[in-house]
Amino acid sequence: MSARRRPIGDTLLVVDGVSLSFGGVKALTDVSFDIREHEILAIIGPNGAGKSSMLNCINGFYHPSAGAITFRGVKRAQMRPHEAAMQGIARTFQNIALFKGMSTLDNIMTGRLLKMKVGLAGQAVHLGPARAEELAHRAFCERIIDFLEIQAVRKTPVGRLPYGLQKRVELGRALAAEPTLLLLDEPMAGMNLEEKQDMCRFILDVNDEFGTTICLIEHDMGVVMDISDRVVVLEYGRKIAEGTPDVVRANQAVIDAYLGVAH
Ligand SMILES: Nc1ncnc2c1ncn2[C@@H]1O[C@H](COP(=O)(O)OP(=O)(O)OP(=O)(O)O)[C@@H](O)[C@H]1O
Ligand SMILES: [Mg+2]
Repeated sequence: MSARRRPIGDTLLVVDGVSLSFGGVKALTDVSFDIREHEILAIIGPNGAGKSSMLNCINGFYHPSAGAITFRGVKRAQMRPHEAAMQGIARTFQNIALFKGMSTLDNIMTGRLLKMKVGLAGQAVHLGPARAEELAHRAFCERIIDFLEIQAVRKTPVGRLPYGLQKRVELGRALAAEPTLLLLDEPMAGMNLEEKQDMCRFILDVNDEFGTTICLIEHDMGVVMDISDRVVVLEYGRKIAEGTPDVVRANQAVIDAYLGVAH
């Protein structure tokens, strides 16, 4: 990868011995790894390996049954989603989570809600300070729209957009929160080659221009190898490998997991 503006720094988040069960299903078993400042870390693994569950633990959707997560030096056995958001963790979902009837701009504005000081009631009556604040937030969201090159659809209800553009709007909604850590659950799933290339470019640009640390789940190994600094591999809820893309690609346990070798 070409030289980046912000070199990879200290540890931003530590996952320490995290386990998670649903009834009898062990989604995660004693998983540990860390995420470093400004890096792009990929989590890969076969279907059902526990990748989404891991992101859900990091942003407080699920509460681990054992282990802890430390973010910016603060250790938590569990955290609620809005707390994670307030701390600077934003995410996109495996199944797009947008308001389909609302425009691109309004969906991106919802990602800004935590930043708004004046409540919705104030905005409803357009009191002076509330109006000024809303305009500032709108201007910020317009800059995200420019950055993601979706100006042409800024007023379009997202339900009418092609799938690839909806994924881009969802990225915009996450960026509106100005996250320190951005979690992306299969940002390229279901995209054609051109859409994937665009999404890769935006992820790299977000990382480089804003310094945002990114943790993404992705099945397309070509994409993973191209854009990630490090890779964590899960299989049946356990971490089976970790390292640079080259190291992971050559790991026999990873090759076996992807070829479906029984063990
Ligand atoms: N809310 C839930 N209730 C019950 N079981 C769940 C729940 N979420 C996940 N699981 C189970 O936990 C395991 C891990 O699921 P998870 O969605 O984390 O896998 P994944 O690696 O993201 O898979 P995929 O690549 O298919 O998205 C699976 O066996 C799944 O069925
Ligand atoms: Mg998943």
